[in-house]
Amino acid sequence: MTARLQIEAVDVGYGHVGVLERVSLDIPAGAIVALVGSNGAGKSTLLRAVSGLLKPSRGRILLDGADIAGWRPDRIVDAGVLHVAEGRRLFRQQSVGDNLELGLYGSRLDRAGQTARYRLVFELFPILAERRQSRAGVLSGGQQQMLAIGQALMRDPRVLMLDEPSLGLAPIIVDQVLDVIVRLRAAGTTIVLVEQMVERALEIADYAYVLQNGRVAGHGPAAELATSDLVRNAYIGAGHG
Ligand SMILES: Nc1ncnc2c1ncn2[C@@H]1O[C@H](COP(=O)(O)OP(=O)(O)O)[C@@H](O)[C@H]1O
Ligand SMILES: [Mg+2]
Repeated sequence: MTARLQIEAVDVGYGHVGVLERVSLDIPAGAIVALVGSNGAGKSTLLRAVSGLLKPSRGRILLDGADIAGWRPDRIVDAGVLHVAEGRRLFRQQSVGDNLELGLYGSRLDRAGQTARYRLVFELFPILAERRQSRAGVLSGGQQQMLAIGQALMRDPRVLMLDEPSLGLAPIIVDQVLDVIVRLRAAGTTIVLVEQMVERALEIADYAYVLQNGRVAGHGPAAELATSDLVRNAYIGAGHG
């Protein structure tokens, strides 16, 4: 059920502009792996390559050993890899319930399976049950982030990639979202967490990678990386999350 993701020496860019160069990550099944780095380092670009929005010009992306690099995005979703993009893209005019239903689009779950997904999402984020009839556009930022994650959870992801889930959220909401990520790991979901709040991300992650200028500058167990010079000097402390 759980899935391992291996990114092997990928080059990724936009047209002729290269961004990632020979980037490799090993994301063990059922782990939280944090991906940290400054703005423009290429974190979102990497998630876009894994989810099929960008095609690597070199390298492999293995999901349980099968190379998914270059697959269409819908096929990658079918394989169980879900991407919660930066900026919580929701259908703002639609209700919370409709947004969750749209998350089921293309899924082969039967009625009982779908009901179980709603139950899980509403259990993790009770506020979404309360606000089921509200339009997504009127929710707070935190509630919208919960809805974006909930929408991805409707597809029962094996690998969940979250791009800056804490962005713009109040500290108490950040706690709630991180707590849900930990619970998802406990249920066997493999998590890739891109996060500007580096210290918080490393607290819950098992392993972490540092991306600088499109290359992996370091990696290691999250607790070790949190105390390393590389991370402490550049990403933790004054001026950083
Ligand atoms: N749609 C795009 N077209 C061209 N260049 C882009 C695009 N999106 C991002 N980039 C460039 O790719 C590099 C990495 O960006 P990004 O992956 O968004 O970094 P991060 O998520 O780490 O902040 C940056 O130099 C950025 O300007
Ligand atoms: Mg980004």
